Amino acid sequence: MAEIALRNIVKRFGSLVAVNNLNLHIRDKEFVVLLGPSGCGKTTTLRCISGLETPDEGKILIDEEDVTNKRASQRDVAFVFQLYALYPHLTAYGNIAFPLVAQGLSKKRTRQEVDRAAQILRIKHILNKKPRELSGGDMQRVALGRAIVRRPKVFLLDEPIGTLDAKFREEMRAELKKLHVDIGATTVYVTHDQVEAMSMGDRVVIMNLGVLQQVGTPHEVYNKPKNLFVANFIGSPGMNFISCKPLRGPGGKLALRLPVVNTTIAIPDETQTIIIDKKKEEKDLVLGVRPENVIFSRKEKSNHLQTRVYVVETMGSYNITDVRLGDETIKVRTAPSILPEVGETVYISFDPQRISIFDEETGDSVV
Ligand SMILES: Nc1ncnc2c1ncn2[C@@H]1O[C@H](COP(=O)(O)OP(=O)(O)OP(=O)(O)O)[C@@H](O)[C@H]1O
Ligand SMILES: [Mg+2]
Repeated sequence: MAEIALRNIVKRFGSLVAVNNLNLHIRDKEFVVLLGPSGCGKTTTLRCISGLETPDEGKILIDEEDVTNKRASQRDVAFVFQLYALYPHLTAYGNIAFPLVAQGLSKKRTRQEVDRAAQILRIKHILNKKPRELSGGDMQRVALGRAIVRRPKVFLLDEPIGTLDAKFREEMRAELKKLHVDIGATTVYVTHDQVEAMSMGDRVVIMNLGVLQQVGTPHEVYNKPKNLFVANFIGSPGMNFISCKPLRGPGGKLALRLPVVNTTIAIPDETQTIIIDKKKEEKDLVLGVRPENVIFSRKEKSNHLQTRVYVVETMGSYNITDVRLGDETIKVRTAPSILPEVGETVYISFDPQRISIFDEETGDSVV
């Protein structure tokens, strides 16, 4: 059992606020990913949970016990960092066994625990090798093994597969997820890679400049981003944004005026109601559309905007076509068979049920 609660955590380095009033509740056995650009405070947050860093303000509770001022060694947490410091003179076995030997565990029990970890990590065949004989991936596994044998309540991982090549990272992603299921420890995992975050996390915590932006399941942060930062950061490519303004049509219906192309587009009744209820009718807004929610046609169609192809990227299982709306580039995701020519005139519209709308001034989501 291990629940973690961060209450109003502030961590400063001189005048820099690395973590700014962070509140977070991590459930027992949950796999939570801290995600955000470089310098947003992910590692600092993790170090505060581990006890390697003490917050300037706020409280950290593990299973409702206040551990804010407890040292790392008193917290029953295990951490694995991007750069593993394995002991070069010890074998893989010796490295994994190290914390148990230090605890004075019997030889027999140590062997059992190392075997169990090696089984989970599928590294039984390398236990007699020294670190210099191991590949990067195997070294990661050994370092993970060293954390697993401690049977911690909480696992803290800071970009543990960040240095591996892309193919290997894909494999390790699945393995780490499986590992979490097998050992069932509450896990906080730091990455700046959104694919990693989305594929592994039960919930994703998105930070920027030390400030929490959104906490949600991968589905929530992708489909209901709380603000422009999250909408842009999550998704590859990120969401398309177009400045717009609500406009009353002749029938009293609210539509969105897009100055960049001097056109007005219709929006669903529910969307109109939300804009009115939230008193955003007079505001400058931003229309957000994910590349897969742009409807694309090579033939002229009613209610479609005419545009021109700027660039086509073939990705294998899909294509991304960049088109221009005035000065703005819109990325459109299409089936791989759709390969328009650069310069070709094409037509786009936005799936009205799948648009997002943000307040331009605050950046916050409206719809
Ligand atoms: N010991 C320190 N002394 C001074 N400033 C620090 C220290 N540790 C972190 N910082 C600063 O705090 C901010 C947050 O750093 P942190 O390492 O938590 O970011 P991060 O999100 O982990 O970034 P990255 O993805 O690059 O690892 C950064 O501006 C960083 O320069
Ligand atoms: Mg970091």
